[in-house]
Amino acid sequence: MRKILIAGNWKMNNDVDESLKLAQELSALSDSFDKNVEVLICPPFTSLYAVKRALHGSVIKVGAQNMHYEDKGAYTGEVSPLMLKGIGIEYVIIGHSERRQYFNETDEIVNKKLKSALRYDIIPILCVGETLEQRESNAERETVKNQIFKAFDGIEPSDAEKITVAYEPIWAIGTGRNATSQQANEMAEFIRSCISELYGSEQADKIVIQYGGSVKPDNAGETLCQPDIDGALVGGASLKADEFLKIINYAK
Ligand code: 13P
Repeated sequence: MRKILIAGNWKMNNDVDESLKLAQELSALSDSFDKNVEVLICPPFTSLYAVKRALHGSVIKVGAQNMHYEDKGAYTGEVSPLMLKGIGIEYVIIGHSERRQYFNETDEIVNKKLKSALRYDIIPILCVGETLEQRESNAERETVKNQIFKAFDGIEPSDAEKITVAYEPIWAIGTGRNATSQQANEMAEFIRSCISELYGSEQADKIVIQYGGSVKPDNAGETLCQPDIDGALVGGASLKADEFLKIINYAK
């Protein structure tokens, strides 16, 4: 059985005080979390250490939204996996479409970051997904397959199964227009078939695949009940404890 992972990507929101407040609100609700669900929050870098400390002993995991692939060195403005590991960070989002789009993150960089996160035992959440133009020209599968093949290039099977994949169609992010549960599941199934092509079906069965893009309390249940979807990567709705709780407890 694959785990269910509900993750909150806070993006560039919340200063330290706001982050601590939200983390503590969530922590206070954690007794009511569905026990089958693993809960993760990804605050901005400036809040990571404080939130990680505040959640000591909590079931809520803490992840970063990005990292550099090098351990250290002359990379002004970057944060290394070693630094994340040093404060107990367990997950890192890699290759989010906003990073690909606004910060020129290529498939090659994404591949290096994945390998680096795995080297430090930080679980990467690899984001893939097509633009609206690509979907409208029926190029969504080709796009996602290309992203998957390039991301997993040179990664050993024993490491590959540790990677979580988040299918985030770009046209559904922050737009209020979520993919239908059928569209989301079809792509999750397709991603699993790509992994199977690379590593075999046993490995593909183990990979956790999330859906992300305008996940809200009122649509989470339908999407998350699909057989190939193992959780959600939530943006806007993860910034309010009560909304995020409803998504965590989608099955209740
Ligand atoms: P929204 O849930 O705000 O659409 O964001 C999705 C996302 O990009 C999560 O990484």
